[in-house]
Amino acid sequence: MKSQEIRATFLEFFKSKQHLIVPSASMVTKDDPTLLFVNSGMAPFKEYFLGNGTPKKSRIADTQKCLRVSGKHNDLEEVGYDTYHHTLFEMLGNWSFGDYFKKEAIAWAWELLTEVYKIDKDILYVTVFEGSNDDDNLEMDTEAYDIWKQYIAEDRILKGNKKDNFWEMGDQGPCGPCSEIHVDIRTPEEKAKVDGKTLVNEDHPQVVEIWNLVFMQYNRKANGTLENLPNKHIDTGMGFERLCMVLQDVKSNYDTDVFTPIIREIETITNTKYRVEEKQDIAIRVISDHVRAVAFSIADGQLPSNTGAGYVIRRILRRAVRYGFTFLDKKEPFIFRLVDILSKKMGQAFPELKAQKQLIE
Ligand code: GLY
Repeated sequence: MKSQEIRATFLEFFKSKQHLIVPSASMVTKDDPTLLFVNSGMAPFKEYFLGNGTPKKSRIADTQKCLRVSGKHNDLEEVGYDTYHHTLFEMLGNWSFGDYFKKEAIAWAWELLTEVYKIDKDILYVTVFEGSNDDDNLEMDTEAYDIWKQYIAEDRILKGNKKDNFWEMGDQGPCGPCSEIHVDIRTPEEKAKVDGKTLVNEDHPQVVEIWNLVFMQYNRKANGTLENLPNKHIDTGMGFERLCMVLQDVKSNYDTDVFTPIIREIETITNTKYRVEEKQDIAIRVISDHVRAVAFSIADGQLPSNTGAGYVIRRILRRAVRYGFTFLDKKEPFIFRLVDILSKKMGQAFPELKAQKQLIE
């Protein structure tokens, strides 16, 4: 399945479950002093979770551009070295604002993955929050555990700690226990040697989280305490590029059709070949990732600069330039030449890339 179809299938599925489909919000935050960029699908909806506004519908789904390069969620230094972290990525999400809760969120996630996308159940693991004995003193999420039992063998339901199974947007804001869905896409020989469940949340490149279902019920206040939200909500986030990796039966996000056209263009421009030399491979991954982050950011109105959010974008651009200069021997500007293929491939889903192409270049 091509990435365009994978994205469209997600949105169609939730439309059939009475969700309103909305376009991605701008990645550049304007009204939130706690965030420089949208770092998750839920960030644009934060005020609805807090009860400070009413969404157009109590069920919404979208694909949201996210940037994880600052603050609590920062993946910048991983990017290029592994095959599944990105600065900019798309997060497919469905939301319930005081409408459905765990039962439907879990049932629909399972239906979409196993019946619509037809992912083999035997490559899936799920996690639930085990509770915490710290100041928050939170109970284990037995409700989610019991719901998952209806769908998946109990030895595939793993308990996870606060770091992995209690999702917080930042130091403050809406939060709650979560259930993650992980895939194990290793070969049968590798699976026979090492049990997949020992690799969940252990940074294995082929045993990765694809979807996080967050059961929003608290607000983390500035003084660090938790208060109950006025209503319970659902916030899910599925990593689009990782989903493409699974559905396209490849072992790296960079081998999906989200990245291969950009990588082919880098090979042509720099006269190199991907998958020949490790240092060059890292550089090619860095550049193919970073051009997306910088291009989408400019399209959303945040240009590179020397302060605040603009400085974050400048650092990403500089990192891309440095890898091109050092490892691909590219001494003259070339990254702007990738904008054309990017806007051709992604301009349909994100028309701002086409509209702002000249400015980005
Ligand atoms: N808000 C869910 C996530 O970003 O994982």
